[in-house]
Amino acid sequence: MAYPDLRSFLADLGDDLLHVRDEFDPKFEIAAVLRSLPADAPAALFENVRGYPGARVAGNLFGGRRRVARAFGTTEERLAQTWLDNKQRAIPPVAAKSIPVQEVVHRAPDELLPLLPILTHHEKDGAPFITTGVVLCTDPVTGRRGMGIHRMMIKGGNRLGILLANPPLSQFHANAEAKGEALDVAIALGLEPATLLASVVRSGPLGPDKMAVAGGLRGDPVELARALTVNVEVPARAEIVIEGRILPGVREPEGPFGENTGYYFSNVSPVVEVTSVTHRDNFIYPGLCPWSGDVDTLLSLAAGTELLGQLQTMVAGVVDLDLTGGTAGFSAAIAVRNCPRHEVRRLVMLALNLDKRLKTVTVVDDDVNIRDPREVAWAMATRYLPERDTVIIGGAEGYVIDPSSAGSSVGSKAGFVATRGAGPEFDRVTLPAAALAKAQALLATLRN
Ligand SMILES: Cc1cc2nc3c(=O)[nH]c(=O)nc-3n(C[C@H](O)[C@H](O)[C@H](O)COP(=O)(O)O)c2cc1C
Repeated sequence: MAYPDLRSFLADLGDDLLHVRDEFDPKFEIAAVLRSLPADAPAALFENVRGYPGARVAGNLFGGRRRVARAFGTTEERLAQTWLDNKQRAIPPVAAKSIPVQEVVHRAPDELLPLLPILTHHEKDGAPFITTGVVLCTDPVTGRRGMGIHRMMIKGGNRLGILLANPPLSQFHANAEAKGEALDVAIALGLEPATLLASVVRSGPLGPDKMAVAGGLRGDPVELARALTVNVEVPARAEIVIEGRILPGVREPEGPFGENTGYYFSNVSPVVEVTSVTHRDNFIYPGLCPWSGDVDTLLSLAAGTELLGQLQTMVAGVVDLDLTGGTAGFSAAIAVRNCPRHEVRRLVMLALNLDKRLKTVTVVDDDVNIRDPREVAWAMATRYLPERDTVIIGGAEGYVIDPSSAGSSVGSKAGFVATRGAGPEFDRVTLPAAALAKAQALLATLRN
């Protein structure tokens, strides 16, 4: 189902949206709620944000696969396949007929914080950070569009620190710098689910236009409009757009910031000089607490499902893949059916090499629930022999936010083959179906 914008998605959630009417502070308090929500909790809309009368903050939009499946009009079981099918049909963006995101325009704002309830998440964070800003720009060399989520630190005045750890944006910025030019950017905040998810799809240097991917995921083109002060197209129905330029040759300390790894991370990063902020009437600011279930779902779809699709075209018998929650996409479990051990080893090496951020992968048979850490640990404990079943790849690129490879750009990777043999020693315990059904019926009455 194509939601035109974030507010129509929220309106459709009904009981699956928690309206928080008590006052909450954007400094720590909203992040604490987002961090504390249990798996599969409703999305949350904070309607009384301290210091920001009339402003609303939304969060936990993707907590749990159930809500994402709903956003794509499918079921949890069919989510991966629906995603892969829809992604195939690229639908290019179109020019917007109306531009709600420019209903209110602040030209050359002196300060960002008084305008937007940007959250401070963790105790040692150096400042409030924007965590769901989809940064849009075009390559000054090829004209290709790029977009991705990049964290941004509020530095005071009209300046933002931006972490550009990944292409294509890091490359576009390098290309602009090589010409001595600033890079025009627009930062879209508060997008409907498909466009936000498309923004973090791993695309590679020759990848598709992510706006067309978003259109395919939605089944409807994204409507774009020209930004007011920079040469970038922006989603016309975003809640907020920050326009600005990444300055050439400028690097400043940025952080500390409690990252998706669960650790603080500081960097020396480029700086955005903001030229304008536009937003809808009664805008909704999107919150995303790092190292939360929200992040797990984003990564699991945009990176995990992508990798699953690639691997299925290369190795027969790949059934499912899950990026393990809480690992910032560094660990994955893969389920296979009838896949010989030598093929599993090839699969391990492919997975670790295709996704540069993936550091460990565990392959199990598809009788194991890869979304249940107890089951994966059980397969490791009973089907894996360290000397026989470990694949190590040395000299790999380390990922900048991974504390274990801090101070060095070189990391290493490992794969664990935890598939069973065919012998009677792997005869998994069972219970009669009728007895299990009776037990389920009892549990259902206890839950009600
Ligand atoms: C929640 C989240 C936060 C991210 N933060 C950053 C960031 O601060 N800096 C960065 O370079 N990449 C960040 N990324 C990754 C980029 O958005 C990602 O590399 C890019 O969109 C992937 O597209 P690509 O294959 O075209 O590089 C983040 C991804 C997610 C899901």
